[in-house]
Amino acid sequence: MKLVGIVGSNADFSYNRILLQYIASQFNELFELEIMEIRDIPMFNQSLDATNSVPIQNLARKIMKADGVIIATPEHNHSIPAGLKSVIEWLSFKIHPLENKPVLIVGSSYYDQGTSRAQLHLRQILDSPGVNAVVMPGNEFLLGKAPEAFDELGNLKSEGTRKFLGATLAKFVQFIKIMDAMEKPEYKLPPEDLHATGQIPTTVTGVDMAAEDWLEQASDKVGAVIGNTYVKLDRGLLTVDQLNWFLNSMPLELTYADSNNQFLYYNHNAPAEDMLAKRQPGQVGNPLANCHPPKAYKNVEWVIQQLRSGNQDVVRVHVPNHGPDQFVVHNYQAIHDENGEYAGINEYILDLQPWVDWYLQQTRQQLVAADGSAPAGPAAAAKVDGVSGASEKVAAPAPTAAKVDAVAGASEKPAAAPAPAAAAPVNVPAAQAAAGGVDGVSGASEKG
Ligand SMILES: Cc1cc2nc3c(=O)[nH]c(=O)nc-3n(C[C@H](O)[C@H](O)[C@H](O)COP(=O)(O)O)c2cc1C
Repeated sequence: MKLVGIVGSNADFSYNRILLQYIASQFNELFELEIMEIRDIPMFNQSLDATNSVPIQNLARKIMKADGVIIATPEHNHSIPAGLKSVIEWLSFKIHPLENKPVLIVGSSYYDQGTSRAQLHLRQILDSPGVNAVVMPGNEFLLGKAPEAFDELGNLKSEGTRKFLGATLAKFVQFIKIMDAMEKPEYKLPPEDLHATGQIPTTVTGVDMAAEDWLEQASDKVGAVIGNTYVKLDRGLLTVDQLNWFLNSMPLELTYADSNNQFLYYNHNAPAEDMLAKRQPGQVGNPLANCHPPKAYKNVEWVIQQLRSGNQDVVRVHVPNHGPDQFVVHNYQAIHDENGEYAGINEYILDLQPWVDWYLQQTRQQLVAADGSAPAGPAAAAKVDGVSGASEKVAAPAPTAAKVDAVAGASEKPAAAPAPAAAAPVNVPAAQAAAGGVDGVSGASEKG
């Protein structure tokens, strides 16, 4: 069983943190407790929505995936600390990860009261409709006189207190099991604004997103550079022309939709009819809603929700209607800024078949049906690799990882695994796949 423990104090030194650390170390046969801090979470402000910020999303995700939550609250002025209240406000504003989640309240205070008044308030707060947690009734763990209660190693000194805590935690485990049998906690991700009615700092205002010439109008408005003007990149310097040539040479169809769900870019290297997902130049600038038929909205929203929430870093969809010679995959990869904040979607579409064929040739392997019976792929006829010049005599797999990168002169170190592979892709549910035909995010219709 996996639980999350929330330290209700943002102080560097906290008895409530020590209490959770004690619980995590002493009761690990009952459950695994991951301790989460609230100190990086900004003060709640309805006008400055930080729901998508990394610390809030991280906490929400952990809660969402946990079987239960233990909140260790201090008592400040007869209530819970402002910082903890603020966190609960974030977790009940646009997202509701505590909904139906079993919660145990514990608390430690400096004097005799042991957070009794704070705990009563916390119960009320957690019971409010926006939070809707399921707090274990009939049980309290109140630890007063904290400085005397712990020894120098952070262990509870009193055997009676240790036993009482153990009994309370065991009851919480039972409570979670009963709750689980009654009602599965269901986490609802916030809806997506596919009409891009919001605004992010990079949104070009005053230009109709649906205009056929949005690109030209928006470029004029911001004074966008073109041609042989240099652009300094994270690690490189290219002209706009070079950047275009580079992106257009990718053996992929690339699309960028920003975090406001506005379709901003695709690498325009072929007319729509020759593309795997047919994109029209006039679509650039459109809200994602304009790029899809309404019947696809549910699926588009689902994909964006996964990426924005961090539930999945990549969503992959195999689109089968390209015939038997192609294996076309639409990959929706979350983009993050340097602070880790969600910055939109990188959709890259590619036909995997030539890569698979090349791999089979290089390794002299064949695809075999799952039952081992019949070859299901192209014969492993070895060919000379036209680019690297690897000879036909190479029987072993081509030394891909050890080769020096002929263009960039990169070292022999194997390249890092590409992000999507590292991010453990998860396939979309059947309903999503069934949508087929329509490119879920950028909106290019497969039918053209
Ligand atoms: C602003 C403030 C108000 C406090 N109010 C109370 C209180 O009402 N009741 C109480 O028992 N302790 C109160 N305390 C003392 C806390 O119990 C003590 O600081 C405790 O260590 C806080 O928990 P922590 O160590 O996990 O941060 C207060 C402390 C502060 C800083």
